[in-house]
Amino acid sequence: MSNQARSIIVTGGAGFIGSHLVRRLLADGHRVLNIDKLTYAGNLRSLADVSGHPSYSFLRADIADAPAIHGAFSSFRPDLIFHLAAESHVDRSITGPMAFIGTNVTGTAVLLQAALETWQRHPRPEGFRFIHVSTDEVFGALGDEGVFTENSPYQPRSPYSASKAASDHLVRAWGETYGLPFIVTNSSNNYGPCQHPEKLIPLAVTRALGGEPIPIYGNGTQVRDWLHVLDHCDALVRVAAHGRNHDTYLIGGGNERRNLDLVRELCGILDRLAPKPAGGSYADQITFVADRPGHDFRYALDAAKVSAHTGWEPEITRSEGFFSTVEWYLANLK
Ligand SMILES: NC(=O)c1ccc[n+]([C@@H]2O[C@H](COP(=O)([O-])OP(=O)(O)OC[C@H]3O[C@@H](n4cnc5c(N)ncnc54)[C@H](O)[C@@H]3O)[C@@H](O)[C@H]2O)c1
Repeated sequence: MSNQARSIIVTGGAGFIGSHLVRRLLADGHRVLNIDKLTYAGNLRSLADVSGHPSYSFLRADIADAPAIHGAFSSFRPDLIFHLAAESHVDRSITGPMAFIGTNVTGTAVLLQAALETWQRHPRPEGFRFIHVSTDEVFGALGDEGVFTENSPYQPRSPYSASKAASDHLVRAWGETYGLPFIVTNSSNNYGPCQHPEKLIPLAVTRALGGEPIPIYGNGTQVRDWLHVLDHCDALVRVAAHGRNHDTYLIGGGNERRNLDLVRELCGILDRLAPKPAGGSYADQITFVADRPGHDFRYALDAAKVSAHTGWEPEITRSEGFFSTVEWYLANLK
């Protein structure tokens, strides 16, 4: 982003990706208002090191609460918004889809209205943007071959991905209808410190260390493209600075792994860092469980456009990223 300090609203800043993004934006010298409802997935301890930063403020609010959101926008007057707040767990969307509609769809619409009002009311610099952080899951599932691109058709298959797809469409509609400056980003699976323990990597590490079964859906052949959360945040910052208004960018790590291979790799790292007192490998705890309904087989994406437009490349290699992530959970999951 430019060296000029910006006034930035981050929604979902107490979540996994949002907490890393807030820290990065403060380090870059910006003023940040974090708006988060603090659901089960939000954790302000992830931001304990910056909570007293003079340029940081926090508002506990539901993004679907229009009066609270309009009030926050009119007093803070952001010139940049990173929208990350969401219900984000596919399994929960299967058992309780309505919360996903309330936050991901209605909440996004409320934010768009508040952003539009701010943008229309106060003359804003060129760089005003609503950056919408979305997922590659909106494109559905791939077979063994091929990759998603920015031109892939939307084919969401879970209540989570359908609600994120709806939110992407709303953002583009506010851009086309009202001229709101926006960028949509769709990223692959993130990993790194501070992820909620329901997600695959922290779940596997927690279960391994607890001596419990490590569940793998189906036969574990599903493929995901793993992106380190710090690389994702770097891409978001670059997209805000250099991305084209009213455009879309796919962000991926170029790091495809079958779920089973990923968990075996994590177990191998744990075997080295925290050998089981009784011997044997943590991989012995891997247990296959009934597959998730409608489980997407493979996601992979072509991140050439974001690289070409912003100069971004993922910097954290798979071995370095997985190793440091396991180390972090070992130190922090107790
Ligand atoms: N984690 C991934 O692998 C991944 C990949 C692609 C895209 N995304 C997207 O990135 C964004 C962030 O993902 P994450 O993994 O950090 O999610 P997360 O579940 O860790 O965090 C979500 C945050 O949003 C907050 N929140 C939820 N509902 C809210 C509401 N109604 N009002 C205000 N705050 C609310 C939660 O309290 C939490 O702090 C999401 O939009 C997600 O769809 C995530």
